[in-house]
Amino acid sequence: MKILLLGSGGREYALALKLRASATPVELVSAPGSDALAELGQRVELDLEQPASVAEWCALHHPDLVVAGPEVPLVAGVADAVRALGIPCFGHDAATARLEGSKAFAKDFMSRHGIPCAASHTVSDLATGEALIGSWSHGFPIVLKADGLAAGKGVVLAQSEAEALDTFRAFMAGQFGDASRTVVFEAPLVGMELSLHVLVDVDADHAAYALLPACQDHKRIFEQDRGPNTGGMGAFGPLPFLHSGDIERMRVDLVQPTVRGLQKDGLTGRGVLFLGVMWTAKGPELLEYNVRFGDPETQVLMQLLDEDLAALLLEVAEGRLASRDLKLKPHTAIAVVLAAEDYPEGARKGVSITIGNPQATLIHAGTRKQDGQWLTNGGRVLNLATSAPDLAAARAVIEASLPEVHWPGMQVRRDIGLKALRHAEAGRTVQDPW
Ligand code: AMP
Ligand code: GLY
Repeated sequence: MKILLLGSGGREYALALKLRASATPVELVSAPGSDALAELGQRVELDLEQPASVAEWCALHHPDLVVAGPEVPLVAGVADAVRALGIPCFGHDAATARLEGSKAFAKDFMSRHGIPCAASHTVSDLATGEALIGSWSHGFPIVLKADGLAAGKGVVLAQSEAEALDTFRAFMAGQFGDASRTVVFEAPLVGMELSLHVLVDVDADHAAYALLPACQDHKRIFEQDRGPNTGGMGAFGPLPFLHSGDIERMRVDLVQPTVRGLQKDGLTGRGVLFLGVMWTAKGPELLEYNVRFGDPETQVLMQLLDEDLAALLLEVAEGRLASRDLKLKPHTAIAVVLAAEDYPEGARKGVSITIGNPQATLIHAGTRKQDGQWLTNGGRVLNLATSAPDLAAARAVIEASLPEVHWPGMQVRRDIGLKALRHAEAGRTVQDPW
């Protein structure tokens, strides 16, 4: 099966490894890919923001399946353009991708379909927003979200009225271009955050979905969740204290109304939805939709999934998914990010990486190869990923692997999964204070 994989990071590298391990023989082409992805298949230079660029290549080379990694191509309409050629695409249409591409659209969708989420106001003019901040009654922080895509930087938790005003004015002045000229204000939700991925295959007369194990990301750069937010410094899953009743609750409260909502609204689903969930005192509430796999959550999920990934993604892309339990290894998986010096403010590039022989799987995210030597080439450089019978054992494999990979200035969190492990060891449940 010839597969065109769109993207270039750790998520795509993990997908590529899994696709190549499929029982179905896979010929992999990545675009724009990376030096590391080039070692797993062919690499082509395509402009993922231009659906025509991808469609042109597809019309010439006839892949059996296109798999979209990041959200930007989907919001731009790449999946529509590929499907228009009669080529299956794992990835949502532009209309459905608005669930990630517009926070205001997503909030409307949630409220229309009765999905529990934070109270919100959508504002597109300065005076209304300033008045809203002046009369804010939902407590602090005031959550401000740029409506459109802002490379993960469009959400600010303002701790004071003054900070909210500054943020709001900067957004309205075009800090993220048109993406921030509409702003969603949200009441703060307090609780434990988790990532729930669901494969969805929905159209007018078919609605199927399959849950992947719930994971937890660690967004702050430093241990104990201190320091600035990053794209994610490590993840693990499933959560040891999340029981089948808890999963059932998320299925009933969040997933089913989402799938039914897509169908009622005449939207198609042909990919994954990644629900950002906050488990509050009232139960699970939806923070956001992503129309793509999470990074580094994918690195965890690919360790756990015991399926022929190429066949599974093609099932979704061709609208043949049947709602079912996916085959999973009875393990806990963990992915730890090795990040560059200066990340997340910047990223020191071009530093030589020493790679020994780690027991954990080495996943390339932001590297490049020069004269046979791997160099840092992005913020999140490498991941170590593994699975083991339980979380403690998986953490131990990572600990044993860490000395095998290093470079000057490398940043790593060694507490991935530790808070959850302590929570579980203390006999606490998801409903207990986090
Ligand atoms: P989002 O891109 O909407 O997921 O927001 C980024 C991060 O901001 C989330 O992962 C949460 O940690 C945090 N966040 C978003 N919305 C809220 C909220 N209503 N209350 C508290 N934290 C939030
Ligand atoms: N790890 C969070 C994300 O992919 O958005």
